[in-house]
Amino acid sequence: MKTADEIVQEDLANIGQRLEAEFSKMAGKKLLIVGGAGFLGYYLVQAPLAWNKVSGQAPIDVTVYDNWMRGKPDWVAALEGDENLTLATHDVTDPMPADAGDFDYIIHAASIASPIYYRIHPIQTMDANVNGLRHLLDYVLTQKDAGKPISGFLFYSTSEIYGDPTPENIPTPETYRGNVSCTGPRACYDESKRYGETLCVNFAQQYDLPITIARPFNNYGPGLKITDRRVLPDFARDVFEGRDIVMLSDGSPTRTFCYIADAIVGYFKVLTRGRPGESYNVGTDAAEVSMAQLADDVVAIARKNWGFDGQVVRKTSSDKDYLTDNPNRRCPVIDKARTELGYEPQVHYEEGLERAMLWYAGNRIAEDA
Ligand SMILES: NC(=O)c1ccc[n+]([C@@H]2O[C@H](COP(=O)([O-])OP(=O)(O)OC[C@H]3O[C@@H](n4cnc5c(N)ncnc54)[C@H](O)[C@@H]3O)[C@@H](O)[C@H]2O)c1
Repeated sequence: MKTADEIVQEDLANIGQRLEAEFSKMAGKKLLIVGGAGFLGYYLVQAPLAWNKVSGQAPIDVTVYDNWMRGKPDWVAALEGDENLTLATHDVTDPMPADAGDFDYIIHAASIASPIYYRIHPIQTMDANVNGLRHLLDYVLTQKDAGKPISGFLFYSTSEIYGDPTPENIPTPETYRGNVSCTGPRACYDESKRYGETLCVNFAQQYDLPITIARPFNNYGPGLKITDRRVLPDFARDVFEGRDIVMLSDGSPTRTFCYIADAIVGYFKVLTRGRPGESYNVGTDAAEVSMAQLADDVVAIARKNWGFDGQVVRKTSSDKDYLTDNPNRRCPVIDKARTELGYEPQVHYEEGLERAMLWYAGNRIAEDA
């Protein structure tokens, strides 16, 4: 059985190989990842640092800004000392530090993505996606005016901007306008992402800036903390705490789960190759998986690898809004990223799920509440 570290090293090597052209373009340049201590940050930060060690090219210089609102993860602390990494405490809702320096690439990933947590922090979530984004875009514009234009800016939107698509809009292309509540319990997230996209498009057009947008569809895998309260970590936590897997829906909602190594390749492609002012779905168009299927598959993997003897049980969440506005189906059309960026997901669901569970086996300790 592979260890969690072997899974991560394989993924980082795979990402580096698939992004050879994009990372070569970024060689010797300065990359800022805001909100880099989160799930996506796990590989966004580690992939260029790993590539630096084998590429033989000028290193990509990585800076991470984070306010550590969910704690400073162990993996971040473990990277301290890498000569190509700078870690700084910064809240994106504050203006850029006066001594920020000149960045060539910027990724704005600073927003809580877990529904449970963004509903606990709704104002901070909106502020990060609107005011925080504005500070970063103002920095980009200032840099251009100072004769130091950036080469790429990536804003993380979400597939949630589509809300609960009507059946004829599944699979969902970028042109679908969405079916979203502006006052429901998820609106702090969905609507601030929608406005964030509007800000990006207008900055790109008005000032001719290389600003692009990614719409992630249900990423999973290494880096997604077991305490994050998203569905797979919840199931994994049940497994490793030796109890039955608890399903809080009727099991019918479906998702197309995109393994994180595939998604990270997509994000760097959007950053370096995306057309200014354009949004790209990043996910997989492979078969949709129901929550009931996911739970059964987790049980099967846990049985095979760790002799898990629990089963799947259904319960109702004590949180009355747990399922409010939860989309029933989520499946992207990824033709735009495929044809414009050469994006192609490779990791099948069964393989990705096994890899994710092996990672959780080595990362089962809760880091925060
Ligand atoms: N993971 C997914 O499947 C997914 C899906 C859709 C969209 N996204 C988007 O991608 C981005 C990253 O997602 P993630 O899964 O890594 O989220 P995450 O919640 O795991 O991590 C977010 C990180 O941002 C930091 N942060 C939050 N507010 C901040 C602020 N005001 N200033 C500085 N740092 C702040 C947090 O401390 C954390 O380290 C988010 O914008 C999210 O909305 C992710």
